[in-house]
Amino acid sequence: MPTSSKEMLFSQAQIRARVQQMAREISRDYAGRELLVVGVLKGAFIFMSDLIRALEVPCRADFIRAASYGAGDESSGCVEITKDIETDITGRDVLIVEDIVDTGLTVQYLTETLRARHPGSLKVCVFLDKKGRRKIPFEADYVGFSIDDGFVVGYGLDFAEQYRAFPDVYVIHAGVEKDPDGGKVDA
Ligand code: IMP
Repeated sequence: MPTSSKEMLFSQAQIRARVQQMAREISRDYAGRELLVVGVLKGAFIFMSDLIRALEVPCRADFIRAASYGAGDESSGCVEITKDIETDITGRDVLIVEDIVDTGLTVQYLTETLRARHPGSLKVCVFLDKKGRRKIPFEADYVGFSIDDGFVVGYGLDFAEQYRAFPDVYVIHAGVEKDPDGGKVDA
């Protein structure tokens, strides 16, 4: 991808400051409790690792992975879990950590699936929120940054498995091929 096709949206410094703020807020809300943080693979692993290191409450970590099938980079709503958590969440305080909420379909499916397992509490923390793109109403409990429409990469978010390791977040501009895998959107 030529450099001119992407534009920085959030710098490392902005991200670090916001993640620290979120960790303080979450630590206040869960004071005296132990959290089970469930990271949604693959996109959330960098955000989750920064977030949990900044938490001031004890936490356990687990991971879930979902895939949805749709046209291009858009989720269709047919979500499946391709890697489940390994923890019994009954009675636990569970925090789902997601990279980005777009249509809301993936996170809604994950939330419903975990809620059916009777956690003590269940909340959702997202790094980026594209509120204007929802296909269903969904409000996350903790939001790093709200953003406009546009495809973003970096800080764990990928485009065809590229750019995850960028420490900053970039918007990819039009004209870039986004669907090399023929429609499977890895959540
Ligand atoms: P949903 O549309 O809210 O179900 O989002 C499904 C998944 O698509 C998210 O968990 C992300 O992994 C991915 N996704 C959505 N928008 C973007 C983006 O702008 N960049 C990278 N991945 C995205």
